[in-house]
Amino acid sequence: MSTAGQPRPSGVAGGPYGTTDFDSRQFRTAMGQFCSGITVITTIDADANPAGFACQSFAALSLDPPLVLFCPMKTSRSWPVIEANGKFVVNVLSHRQQDVSATFGAPGDDKFRSIVWDPSPAGLPVIRHSLTWVECDVDNVVDAGDHYIVVGRALTLGEVLQDKPLLFYRGGYLSTEHPRVTPAQAELENFLTYTGGDTWL
Ligand SMILES: Cc1cc2nc3c(=O)[nH]c(=O)nc-3n(C[C@H](O)[C@H](O)[C@H](O)COP(=O)(O)O)c2cc1C
Repeated sequence: MSTAGQPRPSGVAGGPYGTTDFDSRQFRTAMGQFCSGITVITTIDADANPAGFACQSFAALSLDPPLVLFCPMKTSRSWPVIEANGKFVVNVLSHRQQDVSATFGAPGDDKFRSIVWDPSPAGLPVIRHSLTWVECDVDNVVDAGDHYIVVGRALTLGEVLQDKPLLFYRGGYLSTEHPRVTPAQAELENFLTYTGGDTWL
């Protein structure tokens, strides 16, 4: 098979079989090839003060029961607040919300100052103009290196806006244009976020 015109490998040295001798910068670069959406995970503390952080490590986990997961760093200041509350909202950001991602992706004492939000059924912040949101109970927490894996059970689903997602790729923001190229039907049928038509959650 010809490889003419295909992108050439770069970054980690070591040939076609990879390398076991890598540092955290190389690990970060390799993992940065995985493109994801961006969420902001929100909650409120015992005095009803809102808290939240930008989170790329979100995934839909299970359909029955409906579970999601996200991974906060052990140093996150929002995580203890989420853990104490026991409930959180996942706000899925649209391409219009880069500033929201930047606000919640950096430390700050008043991240909600310029944010317009409405209360979820449990009174947690639903950030206006997010693509969608889901309110969850903390179901399980797993210790994982310098992060936790938090499993949440979905309680309430928000409405879905017809807009484009905000994406994170190679350490930067990206958006996407419709129409999309959809994988073969057979590959999709058992996949959690496949809805049977051309609409992904
Ligand atoms: C696009 C983006 C994605 C991020 N993803 C995560 C993540 O998955 N987990 C995490 O703990 N921090 C993530 N962060 C970093 C946190 O949002 C950041 O450290 C923030 O300051 C934490 O706030 P807190 O200490 O108030 O919880 C991300 C930041 C950005 C900008």
